[in-house]
Amino acid sequence: MSKSHKVWVSRPLFPEVLEHLARYVEVQAETSERKHTAAELREKLAGVDGAIIGLSDRIDGAVIAGNRRLRAIANLAVGYNNLDVPALTAAGIFATNTPDVLNETTADYAWALLLAAARRVSSAERWLRAGNWRGGMRFDDWLGVDVHGRTLGILGMGRIGQAIARRAYGFGMPVLYHNRSRLPVAIEHDCRATWVEKAELLRRADHLMLVLPYSAQSHHAIGAAELALMKPTAVLVNIARGGIVDDAALAVALREGRLAAAGLDVFEGEPAVHALLRELDNAVLSPHLASASADTRRAMAQLAADNLLAALGHGPDAGHPPS
Ligand code: DGY
Repeated sequence: MSKSHKVWVSRPLFPEVLEHLARYVEVQAETSERKHTAAELREKLAGVDGAIIGLSDRIDGAVIAGNRRLRAIANLAVGYNNLDVPALTAAGIFATNTPDVLNETTADYAWALLLAAARRVSSAERWLRAGNWRGGMRFDDWLGVDVHGRTLGILGMGRIGQAIARRAYGFGMPVLYHNRSRLPVAIEHDCRATWVEKAELLRRADHLMLVLPYSAQSHHAIGAAELALMKPTAVLVNIARGGIVDDAALAVALREGRLAAAGLDVFEGEPAVHALLRELDNAVLSPHLASASADTRRAMAQLAADNLLAALGHGPDAGHPPS
């Protein structure tokens, strides 16, 4: 059967998802993972009707300039700060993302980072693996900070923030949150969460999770001034986007003990990580893995493929516009 549409997949994907795509469209899929330059993206996208791309692929007006063929871009992520949506819209290119399927898995990971950072799991493991556990251990060594019963702060109470908040009940933690606007009362009840102003959130939270989308408005939402409001016993978790935190200011606060610890899955300018953060034992660092469970990554890939097919007119749905 001759296929009317051609799509490019910018990174290796689950074979079954590629096979599903290939039933409808001609597929050209990369077999190794790497960041593409703007020139490479321009060239790849020039010859296709649609593409599945990842967060490291930045699609802006310059990349799509003069492209008369491209109809749809499916982002393999819920966040889409790598897409210039106004430029895509102006060019008549449909942009889609992968909301909802990753909420619970990402919330699990936020808790994993909070617990690991508060209880010093990574540094203790490094110490043990280095062969340091020989004799007895001091009773007052490796002391962490408690998580249960403390007040959890959530900055950015969207769908993932709400999934994080619902887990707090099991830890006996009251939840404070800040969004630009309050959630409907029914959702606040469901999450047992109370809206407060941002400064109050920073002052009162025993531990703080960052879950807000990245934009010019949220750039450095947590910088030196905000860190100064936080408790020195607090743990900061960032599973959102690197640019939301001023990593240099965070590293200094961690080094000076103005913050107990941090659990970070995202970094300014990733894959580069601030040199001081890499040195600090009270920072738990991971390479943007929050949605990386086998089931969720499969669901994200499948949703991205279905979105792309729908946008090209091959599926029953209209596709997911970024939401
Ligand atoms: C997202 O979906 O935005 C995550 O950051 C990628 O795992």
